[in-house]
Amino acid sequence: MLNKLVWRKSDKQNRNLQERISDMTGEIVPKHIAIIMDGNGRWAKKRAMPRVAGHHEGMKNVRKITRAANRIGVQALTLYAFSTENWKRPKMEVEFLMRLPEEFLTSFLPELMELNIRIAMIGEMDSLPEHTQNAVKKAMKETEKNTGMVLNFALNYGSRSEIVSAVQQLVQKAQDGELTVEDITEDSISTHLMTSELPEPDLLIRTSGEIRLSNFMLWQLAYTEFWFTDTLWPDFDEHSLLDAVNDYQKRNRRYGGLKGE
Ligand code: FPP
Repeated sequence: MLNKLVWRKSDKQNRNLQERISDMTGEIVPKHIAIIMDGNGRWAKKRAMPRVAGHHEGMKNVRKITRAANRIGVQALTLYAFSTENWKRPKMEVEFLMRLPEEFLTSFLPELMELNIRIAMIGEMDSLPEHTQNAVKKAMKETEKNTGMVLNFALNYGSRSEIVSAVQQLVQKAQDGELTVEDITEDSISTHLMTSELPEPDLLIRTSGEIRLSNFMLWQLAYTEFWFTDTLWPDFDEHSLLDAVNDYQKRNRRYGGLKGE
């Protein structure tokens, strides 16, 4: 751990971001990175600020990490912005969080277009406030022809209910005679999930020292490499992302096979 810290510090001092990004050329970059952005509240508390100030800072950080992921050639970036459990938070905090997509997508849209980034969303759209729905739908529509990185927001998302819904759709099709019980396979479940258009995540990052999945992409993360950091989300910068990707590059993904296969 100490070695890692010392290495990280000297790395930051001696090599700038551009050099680190250039070093990545020709290396394997995860096609899809999923991030559980945690620690906004603690970031604010440390500064004697209200929790929502942490969320606002967290939103600003989404821009930074989106740009960095795009620069290193990531194809899809999924960000857990609001879980189905987050409705239990105080009303004022929920309302604040529900305004963030609007602020983010409105101010960032010109750059998203310039960067050829497409906005997507997983989660229950219908129960979001109308203004949040409008902002997300508008950004999805305006960026729909972009062919670069997909910036996918998990908003009002819960993985178990996503799996239940996929199974229900399949059972309905079986009842209607469109498919047989044998047609209910791993592939058909995957294609009925909200992520059907995306590759499964190669790398999952969770910030703030929590080491759990919190009902996030349980099916899709079956073979994903996990990377946890104590860094709070608003402090998770480009170097942190590159640290995670560099670590990923050292892993040997075996998918249940043997080393070196
Ligand atoms: C968890 O931290 C974070 C959230 C519930 C919200 C995450 C949202 C953002 C980072 C902004 C999203 C931006 C857009 C554009 C939609 P926490 O509040 O649980 O932190 P704590 O554990 O320190 O209290």
